[in-house]
Amino acid sequence: MTVSRIAAPSVDRLAPWQFAAFVEANTHDMAYRPPVVDGPVGPTVVRNGRELVNFASISFLELDRHLPVQRHFAEGARAHGLSTSGSRMTQGICRPHQVLEDTIARHTGKERAISFATGLLANIGFVHAMSSSAHFDAGIEVRNHDTVFVVDRDVHWSIWKGLEGRDYGRNVHAFRHNDVSDLTRILERVRARKTVVIAESIYSADGTMGPIVDILDACERYGAISMIDDANGFMVYGPENRPYAREAAAIRDRADFVMVSLSKAIGLEGGAIAGPATAIDAFELLSGTSMFTAAIQPPTAYTAKRTIDVLADDPAIVDHYLAHAARFRRQMHESDTPTTPTDSYMLSVPIGNDAAALHMREWFVEDGYLVPVFSYPAVPRNRALLRLFPHAGHTEEQMDGFLRTLLTYRRRLGL
Ligand SMILES: Cc1ncc(COP(=O)(O)O)c(C=O)c1O
Repeated sequence: MTVSRIAAPSVDRLAPWQFAAFVEANTHDMAYRPPVVDGPVGPTVVRNGRELVNFASISFLELDRHLPVQRHFAEGARAHGLSTSGSRMTQGICRPHQVLEDTIARHTGKERAISFATGLLANIGFVHAMSSSAHFDAGIEVRNHDTVFVVDRDVHWSIWKGLEGRDYGRNVHAFRHNDVSDLTRILERVRARKTVVIAESIYSADGTMGPIVDILDACERYGAISMIDDANGFMVYGPENRPYAREAAAIRDRADFVMVSLSKAIGLEGGAIAGPATAIDAFELLSGTSMFTAAIQPPTAYTAKRTIDVLADDPAIVDHYLAHAARFRRQMHESDTPTTPTDSYMLSVPIGNDAAALHMREWFVEDGYLVPVFSYPAVPRNRALLRLFPHAGHTEEQMDGFLRTLLTYRRRLGL
């Protein structure tokens, strides 16, 4: 048997990148060596052989674990294969992509939608498409390098990645988080012909709900194009009996573009941009992140469409989940645990001191809980927080146990 040898890269040659020092300085952060999960992720997770109550799962409705969904996935795999095996532009999209895109366009209230392998690629592609210049054989040119972006400072990394290399202060401006007066101040000053405003519905960093109605008012007043990243709100907010109904209606009726992710409520993988038909058609070529990479796997696209239909046909699934999340928030407040002031299903618990938050993370694991901790540089120094996703499958006992454990740590740390 031949044993393949792993070439050891010369440490000296990699020295200028400072990887060794970087990892050494951050060994407290498990992100550099992700722990290994065995079995499916759900309200609990088996990580490095230990079962933990899981507050980290973004697939919080648990639909991906339902047998009918899994059967549907298998049916999609048999009918449409496992891979697109080619680019959308050279080979074409698979039928499930077309049906999914039509479904997303319908649910977001837009003319058309284009899907991407992930929401992250949808965001990067959107920024690229709105700001690139290209010349085509037919003599058609688009020259959009002069686009000015005005974005909430806390938008997702993928938007900032797309904006990288653009001239900050000239064609990229950031407004203070959720601060419409700061947005208005910038729009008043910029007054560019091609301005794009980007904000999120629900911010994954702190769980806050963006003031979307006021943001869209400002866009309309200044003639700016709006793009709402609805990764965390898609199929959760909308019907009038739920919180954030007015904002969800505004996203649907008034936002020019909407980004959706399929990795959150839908519990799968993929993303899309929905908007005016001509722009979405142009994005096929101009986004780059659709044409130059593989699409969502066909059975995933097939199942995502079905899951969207299930959530639309049976509103009780999300209603129950939101009630469950609201109960958890209430219990926190009753036990004097402060949370970021927001009504979203995501819960952020401010801890402050970075070192205390990192201790907490380790203690939680020792006591059987998986709790995401955001500390510097994810958030400003010493503004660390716990960011929790209540899971539809969490039992009362698990939630009570978490709350008791958190209280013990807060007392121990004098918080
Ligand atoms: C606001 C926001 N936008 C975009 C993304 C990226 O979505 P995806 O997981 O589909 O790549 C996320 C996921 O964390 C998010 O929270």
